[in-house]
Amino acid sequence: MNILVTGGCGFIGGNFVRLLLGTDRDFRLVNLDKLTYAGNLANVADLADDPRYRFVKGDICDAELINRIFSEEKIDHVVHFAAESHVDRSIDGPAAFIETNIIGTFTLLEAARAAWLGEGRDATGKRFLHVSTDEVYGSLGETGYFTETTPYDPRSPYSASKASSDHLVSAYHHTYGLPTLMTNCSNNYGPYHFPEKLIPLIITNALKGKDLPVYGDGSNVRDWLYVVDHCRAILRVLDQGKVGDTYNVGGNSEKKNLEVVETICDLLDEVAPPLADGMPRRSLIRFVKDRPGHDKRYAIDASKLRSELGWEPEVTFQEGIRRTIEWYLANTAWTDAILNGSYQEYYRSMYSERLK
Ligand code: NAD
Ligand code: TYD
Repeated sequence: MNILVTGGCGFIGGNFVRLLLGTDRDFRLVNLDKLTYAGNLANVADLADDPRYRFVKGDICDAELINRIFSEEKIDHVVHFAAESHVDRSIDGPAAFIETNIIGTFTLLEAARAAWLGEGRDATGKRFLHVSTDEVYGSLGETGYFTETTPYDPRSPYSASKASSDHLVSAYHHTYGLPTLMTNCSNNYGPYHFPEKLIPLIITNALKGKDLPVYGDGSNVRDWLYVVDHCRAILRVLDQGKVGDTYNVGGNSEKKNLEVVETICDLLDEVAPPLADGMPRRSLIRFVKDRPGHDKRYAIDASKLRSELGWEPEVTFQEGIRRTIEWYLANTAWTDAILNGSYQEYYRSMYSERLK
């Protein structure tokens, strides 16, 4: 079994590579990653000596490279994580999202089609798993859940580019018979999360006594899932999912953003050294300018994945957020390397815009 993982140096992809290499399965794993600002070899550095593992630095839009990997490595399974993933960046500069999320996915689909469905080829046992987001379904009001049949209604350049890639994946299945699978998951959190996203940003800022920016009034709702539970779901779908099907993934853990931020503040007050001024960390909260087109609420109905494939989340939000905070406390070298690098300037200018 030869598996191509794209984006395996990012947050979820890295956790997935770790989960897979942690099993005693017999396979070869090729991790293809461009190492954008969000990609970090340190996320998988301790796994690099595993004889089952190979890293290739490259772009999923590079058709020649992808075709070469398919033929050299005789790829059986693709697990496609690589993407531009941050909504705020997609608002400031959508081009990279169109390029990677749409053209990159198209390039991978074409390579899989040529390798698996070309003249004299055999697609038996092959699988192309596309990792997507619940944001493609748009925004919910006070009630209701996203199911696999909720109509697509993306609102940000990020979610529109992911929706476009989802449609391409579905089209390749229906038109060419490519053996595809798709997962649409809610917001993840956990170790190795790049500190521009809400939870790691709040943890790293709160540790340093910096402002904690809450967009709008903090009442927007996200449905949080511990990243390892997401990775377990992806592996379950890869192993047992029905080709052509989509599975929603979520942990039934809806929280208002302000509640998430306050929870982190209170936990850090408990386990981390106090702030220099002795104030509780909630005093760092700043309500700042809202995100344009800010989706109000996401909530996933994952009953198909539960009933058909027997997946259940194992980590509650209370447990997961504790584990995440412990990880960030134990890995300040990982965060400092990011926070002291080129990201610092990006954050400063982004934050000053939010204060206007
Ligand atoms: P991330 O931004 O942390 O990582 C993305 C990775 O892809 C990085 O390693 C980056 O270097 C790589 N990459 C980017 N462009 C590339 C290109 N052109 N070629 C090769 N590699 C490239 O993202 P993440 O949060 O780990 O998300 C992974 C996937 O899961 C994405 O497809 C995202 O849409 C989806 N998803 C994320 C969440 C979430 O909460 N983070 C939830 C549901 C679905
Ligand atoms: P984010 O982690 O960017 O994920 P997404 O936008 O894909 O859901 O944001 C999660 C929520 O937190 C979202 O409602 C926006 C909000 N948010 C803040 O209030 N402050 C911040 O500094 C960030 C990054 C996000």
